[in-house]
Amino acid sequence: MHLLINTGGGDAPGLNAVIRAVTLSAVRRGFRVTGIRRGYAGLLNEYPHGLMELTPDVVRGIADRGGTILGTVNKGHPFEYPTRDSGHTVLADLSEIVMQRYREIGADCLIAVGGDGSLRIAARFAEKGMRVIGVPKTIDNDLDSTHVTFGFDTAMSFATEAICRLHPTAESHNRVMVVEVMGRYAGWIALYAGIAGGANVILIPEIDFDYDAVCEALRQRWAEGREFAIVVVAEGAKPVDGSLVIRGHELGKEVTLGGIGEVVAREITARTGFETRSLVLGHLQRGGSPTPSDRILALRYGAAAVRLAAEGRFNTMVSWQPPRITAVPIADAVARLKTVPLDHDALETARDLGICLGR
Ligand code: F6P
Repeated sequence: MHLLINTGGGDAPGLNAVIRAVTLSAVRRGFRVTGIRRGYAGLLNEYPHGLMELTPDVVRGIADRGGTILGTVNKGHPFEYPTRDSGHTVLADLSEIVMQRYREIGADCLIAVGGDGSLRIAARFAEKGMRVIGVPKTIDNDLDSTHVTFGFDTAMSFATEAICRLHPTAESHNRVMVVEVMGRYAGWIALYAGIAGGANVILIPEIDFDYDAVCEALRQRWAEGREFAIVVVAEGAKPVDGSLVIRGHELGKEVTLGGIGEVVAREITARTGFETRSLVLGHLQRGGSPTPSDRILALRYGAAAVRLAAEGRFNTMVSWQPPRITAVPIADAVARLKTVPLDHDALETARDLGICLGR
């Protein structure tokens, strides 16, 4: 059997562990593995130089390394590929070229390691006749049909540590520190890191926030003699009747969120007079070595993907449904995003701990 593997979308700690597990599990079965560089670029403009033979030697010692040895892109959607035409950038469907090269290589299956965007692309290739197996990756943890995605634990742990580091400086200066974290339209990183790091206010995309409630919670702390506070805001959070703060929008790419932290900080200062600073954790959340938890999950997902291939269970996504690693149809896995349910006990926990959720 000849397996292809690519990594798509924003990188997440654990991608290299998946690549290692796929390669070792495949080679043990006598399968061949070829890595495609930078999403589908290795089958498009970088073909054939963008193909990389994966052997045990190539994947030695990479499980604890962040990033991906294959490279990744979060633009260059093969069904809507930005191309120049008469001086304009237009979106072209290059999926047939990918299909043709997949056949030319003699591949039996593509293991697509990605988040919702990349797995949606894989699902569309499955409809065109490619045999695919998805592996759920994203720091955002917003993929449905799996208990958790790899990358989330590392990002959430980093954000927690950052929040903990802000407490002493916030207290020393009697300041409000506003920390913006990633997560796109899901509040998992903000909610979990905020609770674990002892934040006083947590603002997530699932609950539009009210500045009156946020400022009231801060004034209350000051009145109680605790004249400092940590506010965690997810990049996709927005005020009631307000809109998302967008950093940019490139053709052929999802909008880039970012900037809400500074907006919230300015509004808090204007309304309360408290000295406020904001910071954006940004891509630091995607860097570094995967936590042991993410590493083991990524290795389990990678090995499971090869088992699925060996069993001929194609057009599926590896899924962790504790305690088992199993598989779900890839089309079902990308049908909806997993945001924080409003009845999630972590929200109740936050309220019970006296954390303001912006309402
Ligand atoms: O999906 C992962 C993620 O890190 C999101 O949390 C964030 O909104 C986005 O990717 C950032 O993308 P980029 O790498 O293009 O800035």
